[in-house]
Amino acid sequence: ARPPTVSLLGEEYPTDDVTNVTSSIAEKLGRDLHRQPAHPLGIIRALIETHFAGFTAISDVSPVVTPALNFDDLGFPADHPGRALSDSYYINRGLMLRTHTSAHEVETFRAGERKWLLSADVYRRDEIDASHYPVFHQMEGARVFSNDKAGLQELTNDTARLAAELERANIEIEDIPHISSTNPVQPEHDPQTSALVAHHLKLSLNSLILKLFGGHGASTEPVRVRWIEAYFPFTSPSYEVEVFYRGKWLEILGCGVVKQSTLDRANVPNSISWAFGLGLERLAMFLFSIPDIRLFWSQDERFLSQFSPGRVTTFKPYSKYPPNSRDISFWLSASGMHDNDFCDVVRDTVGDIAESVEMIDHFIHPKTGRSSKCFRINYRSMDKSLTDEEANTLHQQVASRVREKFGVEIRD
Ligand code: PHE
Repeated sequence: ARPPTVSLLGEEYPTDDVTNVTSSIAEKLGRDLHRQPAHPLGIIRALIETHFAGFTAISDVSPVVTPALNFDDLGFPADHPGRALSDSYYINRGLMLRTHTSAHEVETFRAGERKWLLSADVYRRDEIDASHYPVFHQMEGARVFSNDKAGLQELTNDTARLAAELERANIEIEDIPHISSTNPVQPEHDPQTSALVAHHLKLSLNSLILKLFGGHGASTEPVRVRWIEAYFPFTSPSYEVEVFYRGKWLEILGCGVVKQSTLDRANVPNSISWAFGLGLERLAMFLFSIPDIRLFWSQDERFLSQFSPGRVTTFKPYSKYPPNSRDISFWLSASGMHDNDFCDVVRDTVGDIAESVEMIDHFIHPKTGRSSKCFRINYRSMDKSLTDEEANTLHQQVASRVREKFGVEIRD
């Protein structure tokens, strides 16, 4: 039976048939890693906030939002996969945990902010591995220009300033057209103005990337950036940005020219805006060489003592304890179970000791039609060595929880 309420940040919320927030998720609210000045996420946040001089920095907005704020107001279609119970955490039918910081665009614009950065914890149901965690942090940034002579003059001048700065810098940029038939200008916009806003957005972000990725070490290699066409329901044209770092292209953010319907909904007349959203963990994992996303949540002094405000330093692993891997196979019940449901059971039972969960076998019995799955769980603590017995105990707990909750039949 489900408890009648769920407690989040000291408030009780009624549950219903869609509630899927687990207690291990509920515990994460209020940890505010992005607000710790000596935590890698706080350090990256502060660096970006310093870079965007004159922007209002917001970082204390509750993650409890309505699906309207998170999806509908941003133009997500009714059947968008992100809305599914298997992908997002719902408190009840009327409330959820935000899946992205864009959920606060309308209210921030409505409050009259014209240059702002909003950092926050966001929640998504997902697989378990070294780069996926159901809670992570994003920063949303936006800049509004008046769509009149003075606004366009400001836009033109600032674009020239940024272009001159980047002209002198050691950066290589693979660009794409601001607007194209597949990445269109909005019908409400004058194409030239939209292109100017897009250009300003690109230069603003190139300049940020130069700040974050340039000038570490004595490297004379240029910072390499590439712009890619993208699609988001709440921007057009839209882009993704990748940075070439240590031999790989990393996707670090999404952005675009804000849909005019968002500004209309926020009661911001005669204006045009750009917005971006970037993942703080992703940036921090690369810039600090942090190998596993669980480390951000570590309370171990061997992790925390390595960082200080304002400094991007290389993380020194204090030790890697041996992994303990265990397989579990079961027949699914008729009502089924999403892989993300299984991952939440694992996290809720063993916490951050779960390093990865991988489905290694799936088959359907040809006669009975029953579905069988086998998952391999890798147990490894960040902070201490696990004994075989401890791993067995954890694995048995996972087995009984998944049996109880989803009616699966464990096979041996
Ligand atoms: N919210 C988007 C995401 O999480 C990123 C984004 C933000 C894209 C702002 C465009 C503008 O993927």
